[in-house]
Amino acid sequence: MTLLIIYSSTSGNTEYTVDVLAKHLRGSSDMEIKVQRVEESKPENMKDCDILMFACGTWNSVREGQLSPGFIKFVSVAKEFDLEGKGTCVIGLGDDRYFYTCKSTAHLMQFAREIGGKNLLPPLPIVNDPYGQEEKIIKWGDKLLSAIQK
Ligand SMILES: Cc1cc2nc3c(=O)[nH]c(=O)nc-3n(C[C@H](O)[C@H](O)[C@H](O)COP(=O)(O)O)c2cc1C
Repeated sequence: MTLLIIYSSTSGNTEYTVDVLAKHLRGSSDMEIKVQRVEESKPENMKDCDILMFACGTWNSVREGQLSPGFIKFVSVAKEFDLEGKGTCVIGLGDDRYFYTCKSTAHLMQFAREIGGKNLLPPLPIVNDPYGQEEKIIKWGDKLLSAIQK
């Protein structure tokens, strides 16, 4: 079983979140965890896994509450891809100083659904810095493992 995590990170918050999660999943399952920055990923890479995860912060390109620039580009080139019911899950980061807090979560969910993903569990929103939120990340990782086992 292979999990591919495609993520983007501008200040390192999503990268830290994904690192904590990947370390936990590697330590508590025999799943292969592959991690790719969205800028270095291609839509066809999404074939090379059993479970797919998208993770990114919320950004203000033109207006607030958008995906990061890297994900906007990826979504535009990957929108014709068909995941054929592959299991998907998402992590979205944001900051409560913004009105559309963590809106990347909803955008990533919509993208995964539109390309034929089957959502495995409610998303993980990380509001403000992820440092100190490791327990929340780990608990969500355990829920992901349970969802995969079902
Ligand atoms: C230019 C800019 C725009 C942002 N816009 C939003 C936003 O609209 N909504 C929100 O919840 N967070 C917003 N944020 C906060 C980031 O999503 C948050 O800091 C996140 O943890 C960044 O993750 P990253 O370092 O992995 O990119 C914005 C941050 C920056 C720098």
